Amino acid sequence: MLKNELDVRLKKAVTLKEKPDQDKLGFGQYFTDHMLTMKWSRAKGWHDAEIGPYADFQVDPAAMVFHYGQAIFEGLKAYRGADGAILMYRPKDNLKRLNRSAVRMCMPRIPVDKVMQAMKGLVYLERDWIPESEGAALYLRPTMVATEAALGLRPSEEYLFFIIMSPVGAYYAEGFNPTKIYVEDTYVRAVPGGVGEAKTAGNYAASVKALTEAQHKGFTQVLWLDALEHKYIEEVGTSNIFFVINDELITPPLGGTILAGITRDSVLQLARDWDVEVAERRITIDEVIAAAKDGSLSEAFGAGTAAVISPVGELCYKGETVSINEGKTGALSQKLFDAIQSLQRGLLPDPHNWRIRVA
Ligand code: COI
Repeated sequence: MLKNELDVRLKKAVTLKEKPDQDKLGFGQYFTDHMLTMKWSRAKGWHDAEIGPYADFQVDPAAMVFHYGQAIFEGLKAYRGADGAILMYRPKDNLKRLNRSAVRMCMPRIPVDKVMQAMKGLVYLERDWIPESEGAALYLRPTMVATEAALGLRPSEEYLFFIIMSPVGAYYAEGFNPTKIYVEDTYVRAVPGGVGEAKTAGNYAASVKALTEAQHKGFTQVLWLDALEHKYIEEVGTSNIFFVINDELITPPLGGTILAGITRDSVLQLARDWDVEVAERRITIDEVIAAAKDGSLSEAFGAGTAAVISPVGELCYKGETVSINEGKTGALSQKLFDAIQSLQRGLLPDPHNWRIRVA
């Protein structure tokens, strides 16, 4: 086999799992019957690609991912269209972003087109797992980890790439209702020159302390500020963030410390299509709090694959809580939520070619 050529074996599971109740899915609690795996080594490139039964891995305790954290991942969804079609939303963008994360983390890039084909095959095989209820989808988690057994600090010479899948409902316990967000002014997520824009496991590990502290205080998530001045807004723990101030849609720019969200990009494009004024600019927490107080902040929402569009009903900063749109979902948030869901399910024309039909 040539280096990077992907020849996928199919090994079907002998027993299939019982499918969960579609109305009680939560997020990431159930896993389908099969997964895609493939290995990389310097000598062979990508090899041993297989769609096989979902199962534990056997990994050496010295595998470098356990010690030095070379781990990157993606999140994307497959949907059941109104006409029964199996659809995916911007999947190639996710695979390309995985490759950008790979470069930052000194990991090998995946062959995007070939993995796309294999991923479509996996989704088709597991089509009965795609939930049909509104707001639900089949979530895919492409992941790459360093598997070489070695303790010297350097890039691993071996990797495992896999895709597991999980039928999911809303990410937050609130469903798609407004969330309460804690503005984190002590801990930081990412520094300029760091790995903030890579979708790497360590970024999430580093966020867990702030998240749990915020949750103990009754908040759903944290809103991160920049690491140098604790002043500029960055992103929410699970999504990018948007504000509507004086009818302008504002989101922080991609400067290397935040994730280049695919839902973020869809929101910006849709807003421009609808002639909404859009600004990708630095915005301080002080500006947001002042706008909440003088009434010019009409909406705030998070945008991400798992979170979809999640309105923010309340922000707490330095002990002071401000309510946004009286804690209700704003008109633009709702319009974006409806449009993105409809696009994903094939209920709206798709001028930007974001949808892929699997079958
Ligand atoms: C996603 O939105 O797909 C993510 O990876 C965020 C994660 C915290 C669930």
